[in-house]
Amino acid sequence: MRELILAALMDKIGQYVSGQQLSEALGCTRAAVWKHIQALKEDGYRVDAVPRLGYCLRVVPDIVEPYFIKQLLETRQLGREIQHVPVLDSTNQRAKMLAEHGAPNGMLVLAEEQTNGRGRMGKSWASAKGKGVWMSLVLRPTITPADAQKITMMAAVAMAQAIEKECGIRPGIKWPNDILIGTRKVCGILTEMNTSVDEVRYCIVGTGVNVNHDAGDFPPELEQVATSLKMECGHEVSRTPLIVSYLNALEPLLEKFIETREFSSVLALYRPYSVTLGRDVHITGPGLDLEGTALYFDDEGMLVVLGRNGRRERVFSGEVHVRGLLGQ
Ligand code: BTN
Repeated sequence: MRELILAALMDKIGQYVSGQQLSEALGCTRAAVWKHIQALKEDGYRVDAVPRLGYCLRVVPDIVEPYFIKQLLETRQLGREIQHVPVLDSTNQRAKMLAEHGAPNGMLVLAEEQTNGRGRMGKSWASAKGKGVWMSLVLRPTITPADAQKITMMAAVAMAQAIEKECGIRPGIKWPNDILIGTRKVCGILTEMNTSVDEVRYCIVGTGVNVNHDAGDFPPELEQVATSLKMECGHEVSRTPLIVSYLNALEPLLEKFIETREFSSVLALYRPYSVTLGRDVHITGPGLDLEGTALYFDDEGMLVVLGRNGRRERVFSGEVHVRGLLGQ
């Protein structure tokens, strides 16, 4: 109902629409219309209400509104169903629950704030209220578990392209999926999967982007290593176009890969963003402690490193420290 009222007001932005008209068109009482208008006002919409004239939408705030996202999307499935919630522990957690209950491919969960945002390697992810994009996609790709990393790399390319398009800044990607501006992190991606023996039942791609943070909005331990789009562009950045650009960029990459199983065209887009290749790296993880020079990505998206012992190692995943980045 909220979306329908918003759509009707948007359609006549700056003009009056009578409460009677709205209630008849939407099949609800005038009191229900009034209640939804109050809720819109509380969210920052400026709606003038004048007796006998009705309601007039004057100002649309920069809030993440599923209605506007859907209006701008060019996708077939990604973001066609959206759950937008003020506070969640973790959008990945919610998306997982929805996937278990049959959520369709492409369903998007968005939160204004996360109280238990999760990062890679069991870390937490700071998710301040209204400052960032905290979102998770439910995907049901017909791929094997071994291909999951490729999905994450596609998401990184799509977000790097979205940032470039919406902010005019060229970010870098630290393999496999950290997005940096300069030497600091602006976006992280956490992909979680539910698999059977040889297929992926569903995949949750969680993406956190620091959008409108000022330096003081980060917890002290992140102050030196994190940045936001606002801090880099010098002005507020609207979150809706960023989300839309990301989804619009990601869908064709996913569709093409699922159809052709061909990853080299994704790598061709990914490589120019890489801030890992040619650099000194230190990679750690379960049973892994490797220092060397990052040489190239193989056809599967794995990182090939020339170790200090002169041997080449293919790395599937791990915590990657690149000398000179993120205070390392
Ligand atoms: C990383 O460690 O770099 C990955 C961070 C991923 C954070 C996002 S925010 C939205 C989604 N929900 C979560 O709990 N985590 C991801």
